Amino acid sequence: MLRALQTVGVRRSDAALEEEAQRYWTESHQGRGSHWRSTSRFAEGELWTQIGLRHLGMLRRAARTLDAGPDLERVVEWGCGGGANAVQIAPLAREFVGVDVSVDSLEECARQVAARCDTPFRPVLVDVRDPESALRQIEGRCDVFLCVYVFELIPNPAYGERLLRIAHDTLAPGGLALVQIKYDTGSWRTRPRRLSYRFSPGNTTTYPIHTFWELAARCGFEPRYVELVPRDELDERYAYFVLVKPVAPAGPS
Ligand SMILES: C[S@@+](CC[C@H](N)C(=O)[O-])C[C@H]1O[C@@H](n2cnc3c(N)ncnc32)[C@H](O)[C@@H]1O
Repeated sequence: MLRALQTVGVRRSDAALEEEAQRYWTESHQGRGSHWRSTSRFAEGELWTQIGLRHLGMLRRAARTLDAGPDLERVVEWGCGGGANAVQIAPLAREFVGVDVSVDSLEECARQVAARCDTPFRPVLVDVRDPESALRQIEGRCDVFLCVYVFELIPNPAYGERLLRIAHDTLAPGGLALVQIKYDTGSWRTRPRRLSYRFSPGNTTTYPIHTFWELAARCGFEPRYVELVPRDELDERYAYFVLVKPVAPAGPS
């Protein structure tokens, strides 16, 4: 069915997908798809807590593996949603910057962080069509850039380059990015989709693993390693990239 729709040309332009994504995340959603602790997916059991602990564990593993930081002084999470990661990481940070396209999710994230610790939470609201506006609001360099369960939702693979360049601009030299993508295995089913955003937002953007590695390098990062999670409790085909912003600038990008 999907294949047939793509074949007959029911494809969206980049601008249309960006607009649909903006509408999807900013309509009243009560946390739907945004990993709020109160939603049915997380209301029972420990999954919400486990998600945050898993990503904190990955940051710690990166620090050990790289035999350096990460210094958690100033952390930015792109697409912070309902705060599953923020509540685990903010207590260790001096400031936690949450970026999101949904004002409701930023408010929920702020509530969850305040209930957990005294670390200041800086909400940064962006429009899907203008992610670069975050740079003016973040003000100052960060030590860690975290982005999980978001790249699959961005309007198209080229948009990922914009986010990686923002991550690079945001980080201090030596800073660390942990970025999760959904990977394309080469089979038709796992390619990026350009149909209606609302139909299946979580399958909109995928990358072959080597393509994303090269993209990160083009954006000025030193990719260090990738952790693959072929399936987790939420979905499948996740790859976590550990990227470092070099202390000395890389060659032309
Ligand atoms: C699936 S939730 C993930 C939340 C959180 N990262 C986590 O791991 O629990 C996706 C979040 O990304 C936000 N989002 C979607 N598109 C975005 C974009 N282009 N830029 C920033 N945030 C975006 C949504 O509003 C939502 O809060």
